[in-house]
Amino acid sequence: MKKPTPRRPKKKTEARRRAPGSLGGGSTARTVEPRWTEVDHYFSENLLGNDPILEAALESSTAAGLPAIAVSPNQGKLLQMLAQIIGARSILEIGTLGGYSTIWMARGLHTGGRVITLEVDAKHADVARKNFSRARLDQIIEVWEGPALDTLPRLFAEGRGPFDLIFIDADKANIPAYFDWSINLSHPGSLIVVDNVVRDGEVINARSTDSSVQGVRQFVSKLAADPRVTGTAIQCVGTKGYDGFAIVLVR
Ligand code: SAH
Ligand code: DHB
Ligand code: MG
Repeated sequence: MKKPTPRRPKKKTEARRRAPGSLGGGSTARTVEPRWTEVDHYFSENLLGNDPILEAALESSTAAGLPAIAVSPNQGKLLQMLAQIIGARSILEIGTLGGYSTIWMARGLHTGGRVITLEVDAKHADVARKNFSRARLDQIIEVWEGPALDTLPRLFAEGRGPFDLIFIDADKANIPAYFDWSINLSHPGSLIVVDNVVRDGEVINARSTDSSVQGVRQFVSKLAADPRVTGTAIQCVGTKGYDGFAIVLVR
């Protein structure tokens, strides 16, 4: 049998839908290679299978007009596996949206474990709560509504935490502040995962005027300088374009 000629997909630049207001990110066009999407689907179809509850969470988010910026299915599975690997009993998420990533992580919890997820937008929080009920996770996941810079100090003051796994995925300009709070709310061995740290490669642009890019860069400087933590960052391509995760281990 003849081997099929490998297809070289043309590079395509498409403006991605942007969330209003607080998500920031500017109006930079994003590169999405069709092959990245196809490969993402190949892995998710083979390794993840169909999940009506996760699919319903995305559908209800779309129906409510939420932006399509949840983690991809393969990234969600990674978050779930990280929770399983560390035997997470307490998880904190900053930036709920419709709760898609929250459900993935909650399913990786050790028996008896719990999740707290922080969300500024009341509509997003509402959609998420309905998704948690449908997933029968509403007894396990608490949604704290309000700006995370208000709810994080409240969590700390109320003695919630420390958290085994923290996922930072809200407004990017505040990543440095969220990182500081995350360290305060962690213990040796905690993992802190930060989404969207590559930003189509713009992260290397020191003179970027994009507050999201500068937020990521300040976070990277903090991570590099702080002896309490060690970390790395992994570039990703896929259905969400070209972006990546930072993964931080608290010593
Ligand atoms: N983690 C989600 C995606 C989160 S999108 C998933 O992968 O499924 C980012 C979310 O952060 C949005 O819902 C946005 O409303 C929220 N957000 C933005 N600024 C915030 C702030 N200051 N405090 C709390 N949440 C914020
Ligand atoms: C976008 C993507 C994200 O994962 C996120 O957390 C915020 C914004 C975006 O593509 O705009
Ligand atoms: Mg994100």
